[in-house]
Amino acid sequence: MESKSIDTVLKETRSFAPSPSFAQQANLSAADYERLWKDAQAEPVRFWEHAAKNIDWFEPWTKALSWEEPFAKWFLGGKTNAAYNCLDRHVANGRKDKTAILWEGEEGEVRKLSYGQLLDRVSQLANGMQKDLGLKAGDTVAVYMPMIPEAVVTMLACARVGVTHSVIFAGFSSSAIHDRVLDADCKAVFTADYGKRRGKKLELQPIVEEGLKGVDCVQHVVVFRNEKNSPLGSRGVEWQALVDKQSTKHEAVSLDAEHPLYFLYTSGTTGKPKGIVHSTGGYMVSVTQTAKWVFDLKEDDIYWCTADIGWVTGHSYVVYGILSNGATALLYEGAPNYPDWGRFWSIIDKHKVSILYTAPTAIRAFMRAGESIPRKYKLDSLRLLGTVGEPINPEAWIWYHNEIGHGKCPIVDTWWQTETGAIMITPLPGVTATKPGSATRPFPGIVADIVDENGKSCAPNEGGYLVIRHPWPSMVRNIHKNPDRFKDQYWSRFPGLYFAGDGAHKDENGYFWIKGRVDDVINVSGHRLGTMEIESALVSHPAVAEAAVVGRPDELKGQAITAFVIPKESADLSNLAALSKELSQHVVSEIGALARPEEIKFTRTLPKTRSGKIMRRLLKDLAAGKQASGDTTTLENPDLVQLIQ
Ligand code: WT7
Repeated sequence: MESKSIDTVLKETRSFAPSPSFAQQANLSAADYERLWKDAQAEPVRFWEHAAKNIDWFEPWTKALSWEEPFAKWFLGGKTNAAYNCLDRHVANGRKDKTAILWEGEEGEVRKLSYGQLLDRVSQLANGMQKDLGLKAGDTVAVYMPMIPEAVVTMLACARVGVTHSVIFAGFSSSAIHDRVLDADCKAVFTADYGKRRGKKLELQPIVEEGLKGVDCVQHVVVFRNEKNSPLGSRGVEWQALVDKQSTKHEAVSLDAEHPLYFLYTSGTTGKPKGIVHSTGGYMVSVTQTAKWVFDLKEDDIYWCTADIGWVTGHSYVVYGILSNGATALLYEGAPNYPDWGRFWSIIDKHKVSILYTAPTAIRAFMRAGESIPRKYKLDSLRLLGTVGEPINPEAWIWYHNEIGHGKCPIVDTWWQTETGAIMITPLPGVTATKPGSATRPFPGIVADIVDENGKSCAPNEGGYLVIRHPWPSMVRNIHKNPDRFKDQYWSRFPGLYFAGDGAHKDENGYFWIKGRVDDVINVSGHRLGTMEIESALVSHPAVAEAAVVGRPDELKGQAITAFVIPKESADLSNLAALSKELSQHVVSEIGALARPEEIKFTRTLPKTRSGKIMRRLLKDLAAGKQASGDTTTLENPDLVQLIQ
């Protein structure tokens, strides 16, 4: 009895209604929401036409959407500029002296840039790009920089001139730089001599030099120097010298709404990186509207998204969506456990952070270190918490809610992707009742659904494939230089629908529960199980900090479940065999016998991509008793897993 859908096995019944006090001050009122949401489901284009008023246009658009599947164009005829929307309009409207970027370095150094100062700096670099480097709209450059304000200045200067940026996470290797720079024909690379991490220098310029061997398209390497005499290399220009000599007057270039604002290479967990292409107008409309409602941004908020600018989260919700709303964005260059696991909480108290947006993988790491650490801090400036990047286990959600939010901060569990550009499925704080582990409902104007193998909508609680039925403004426009792969990757599985690659189900209230990538689904005796639910069951045991489950070949059942488990610091590891039995039994009582892990391997680490996603492909090899194979260039911890014997 092979079932094609994905079984729903974990039941979570806790629900948290919005508090009246939050609801009363929220940017979107609960009273308006229900009708607005229904109207937007029926006529998404009208909703986005309205949302387009949140950004300034140099020339108005004439048609909201042209859709020749799978190629969308939004706000046709419209002219705008992303940097103008993030800077000039705020400086002109009373935010000149408001802090735009609040930066903290690892040793506790603090730098603040007001909107006025940021505009000046961006204008200077924009002049430098055009006049000294000969860059113009339509060119592409790579950015390989640490989390310093100058990285944001660089992105915005590109946007101002119309130069498409390709930010490469400053932890990737020289070969990753090599491939990405060539694929995008970059004319310049912006980097720094080094970044800082755990008290050590993280060399960057030498890695760029290595990556640019045999690369002819790059004419300039612009190096932000922490030290006066750091090497610049043969194509090198000093970032500060280039910027300092320029005028602070610069007119933002008027760009077509469809002008590519950036490429962002994503490998996910498999395969060759794809250059995801994002637009200017539609992208800015989506990120501005979502940031305003999902983060409920207010004039005096201190907003902190812990993502690196090398990820889409850093693009949309450190830079573009946040500055476009005129908010204050905190940037931290450093590790979450430097000097200890209290660092995030000390930053929150010190700067009175009111909104925190982070990843479940980080939350689980904090849980593992124990709640005595956050309990040393006040955390009373916080009013809203968010998560992104993977499904959050209910246990981690509750911990975040109690230990960090002190039971009073709404949590927005935001589902989206590099490809979607903006948040797609999410609670709206003050409006949506939340359930731990569910991203709740689609954002207004996003028509999401769960379908079965044949593209037919699933019934409530029937597991299937997460799809988007209607184009949205910030959607991926193409894979750079590879339209065939674009079609094949996202539009071929279900004709007419965008297929995200995730498995999910909707409950009886229309809430979405994302179960993880469908490639990771485990098939036990014909039951298709999402990894997230089994992992959640494991993490709900008091001894477990983190878990990853994979299938390994099994003659009898097709696949059997192997679980890799990181125990909590507090767990008793004196009898691993007994603990292993207990954990298997725990999963059986939480889910049922069919989800019983056949094997549990205790470990200190899990192989993760640098954005925090578990590389199950490698674990599958280990579970099957094979050597780990395939590309590991995006792996954060190259030791794979250190098993506890
Ligand atoms: C994949 C996209 C979006 C920015 C960071 C990751 C998973 C993301 C959630 C969530 C469940 C989530 C999905 C998605 N994912 N957010 N709130 N709940 N799953 O971007 O690297 O493009 O990864 O991350 O599997 O498809 P990305």
